[in-house]
Amino acid sequence: MKVDSDVSKFVRTNILNLAPYIAGKPDYSQLRLHANEASWEPESAQPLKLNRYAGLDLNVTSLIANQYQINDDEFIVSRGSSEGVDIIIKTFCEPHKDAICISTPTFDMYRFYANIQDIDIHDVPLSMEISLNTYQFNYDLLCEHLVRHTNIKVLFLCSPNNPTGNSISENEIIGLCYLMKDQGIVVVDEAYIEFSTNKSVCKKINEINNLIILRTMSKSFALAGARVGYIISNNKCIAYMNRVVPPYSCPTPTQNYIKEALTHSNIITGQAYIKDVINEKILLYSNLSKHSFIDNVWKSDGNFILKKILVRGFPNMPILKHSLRITIGSLKDNAKLITALNEFRGN
Ligand SMILES: Cc1ncc(COP(=O)(O)O)c(C=O)c1O
Repeated sequence: MKVDSDVSKFVRTNILNLAPYIAGKPDYSQLRLHANEASWEPESAQPLKLNRYAGLDLNVTSLIANQYQINDDEFIVSRGSSEGVDIIIKTFCEPHKDAICISTPTFDMYRFYANIQDIDIHDVPLSMEISLNTYQFNYDLLCEHLVRHTNIKVLFLCSPNNPTGNSISENEIIGLCYLMKDQGIVVVDEAYIEFSTNKSVCKKINEINNLIILRTMSKSFALAGARVGYIISNNKCIAYMNRVVPPYSCPTPTQNYIKEALTHSNIITGQAYIKDVINEKILLYSNLSKHSFIDNVWKSDGNFILKKILVRGFPNMPILKHSLRITIGSLKDNAKLITALNEFRGN
């Protein structure tokens, strides 16, 4: 289904009127006397040209585009996908007027950045579905809510969702984009998609104009310390969001980490890691389910498991007050966890 939506209608007025800052081209073969840079390089084991401001290197650009099967002008590199949330809210939400919509329990950064910008937050909570052993995303209730509150400019969907591990189907995502076509933007946060059987909706960006996807290199690519995330959308939407991104925002060392992470051998290692996590998750499920102090272990599409326990966890989220999320670690970490749980049961 095609969702024809004019995204320029959703951009904040001051951002729409903001003249984009045009940074100098990163052409190091030319005489560079335009940027007040230093002409000497600090000594280091690997010369990195850190004396120069760096735009996104063309090789890095094409590696990223190739990885996500998109064009060069269909993404922004952000400092983790968390910063992507901030960039989206800054571009589209008018403080004291527009709102975002989330479904808690979910990733807290949507609330965090909306609060910083004084943007209202609507919550259509997930419901606990014991019979399906999952948290359920309430599609009809969410649709009703969006229709009733037309100041909701950005809808955040997290699939797989942190911390509950449930996913949202492609049909539901497309349906919500269609519903929001004259109202605003739908963001799908796919931080954990590599661990899921569901497919990414990245391939839909040119059919669905009001769709933005967040991806990260912090999880399956093992690059959390480098802070690399991507905002992916059609080129028009990306051009608007680029207006709020500071110039030269992807540092030279970070670009080198991206290049290394996207080498063939690291991609193969990453894929093997994803398989291990999925297998370990199955083992942990059956192990955790055995314990009398664990009430339930929810099905999860992420690299973590949420379990219902008889002691208190997540004190700030009432719906999760008896739940604990654990990351699927290395084989050794998981074995330690199982031993600790067995000992706990013995006490
Ligand atoms: C759902 C979700 N989205 C985004 C992120 C942010 O990832 P990063 O900022 O490291 O890219 C996280 C981190 O845990 C997350 O759980």
